[in-house]
Amino acid sequence: MKVSALRLLLLLNSLDSASARVSVTVSPERSQFFKYERFSVSCEDEEKEQVTGWKVMKRMMDGEVHPCPSCSISAAFPFTDSGEYWCQSGQGATSNSVNISVTAGLVILDSPVHPVIEGDNVTLSCRHKSILTPTEVLNTEFFKDGRLIGRSSTGNMTIYRVSKSDEGFYKCKVNGPNNESEESWLTVRAAPPTGQDPQANLFFPVVRHLVVGCPYLLSTILLGLIGRDRIRALHAEKRRQKSDDVIMEMAQYRVGHPV
Ligand SMILES: *[C@@H]1O[C@H](CO)[C@@H](O)[C@H](O)[C@H]1NC(C)=O
Repeated sequence: MKVSALRLLLLLNSLDSASARVSVTVSPERSQFFKYERFSVSCEDEEKEQVTGWKVMKRMMDGEVHPCPSCSISAAFPFTDSGEYWCQSGQGATSNSVNISVTAGLVILDSPVHPVIEGDNVTLSCRHKSILTPTEVLNTEFFKDGRLIGRSSTGNMTIYRVSKSDEGFYKCKVNGPNNESEESWLTVRAAPPTGQDPQANLFFPVVRHLVVGCPYLLSTILLGLIGRDRIRALHAEKRRQKSDDVIMEMAQYRVGHPV
């Protein structure tokens, strides 16, 4: 009984960790890096905690897939560190993925790594390697799918209330030749039906924890009850023995000292 309860617990626990949503995260949160820059990729659960049992995988530009153990890159190189990164569990489950570009050029586009929600404002930043302070004026052009969509003198451009039609490849360009960033894909995700968002976000974790937690609780109570019954039986046994002893003593007393 105890063994099967334990097995049930282990099974439920593994179900719980498998259904927890794991996502790949990049730090700093960007999809473009200059050559020699430092960045790291890790696997996190919904509570933003690092997860164990998942490893970071990367698909390099040539299509080769390699694990990226303790994926912390201290000096990025365009050929070896550009590519698609994701997390993979021992059982083969995979997380979302992110595409990272490492450039030997002078300009990068800082755009959201993760999908943005319809209706959000999204700011794109164009960064030049030799311009250190953000206050320096940078005449920048922004492109979507190769088409010029805006100019800025601050290096930033905000797209207000993004919609599905804003999805695409973005890049930026500063004055001068060869001062163009690589392209990054922006994903726009449909907004959840209004009013249901908080519940929807709460609902699934709660249900998951209930589904997993109820049998856990039940088996804990069951184990407790079994334990308590054992202890009770033991006490009853002791009491019975004690009263037997008393009877025996009384009997002995009677035998030794006849009235
Ligand atoms: C990353 O790039 C690959 C190849 O261009 C593409 O198939 C994939 O959808 C991209 N992934 C994301 C998350 O943008």
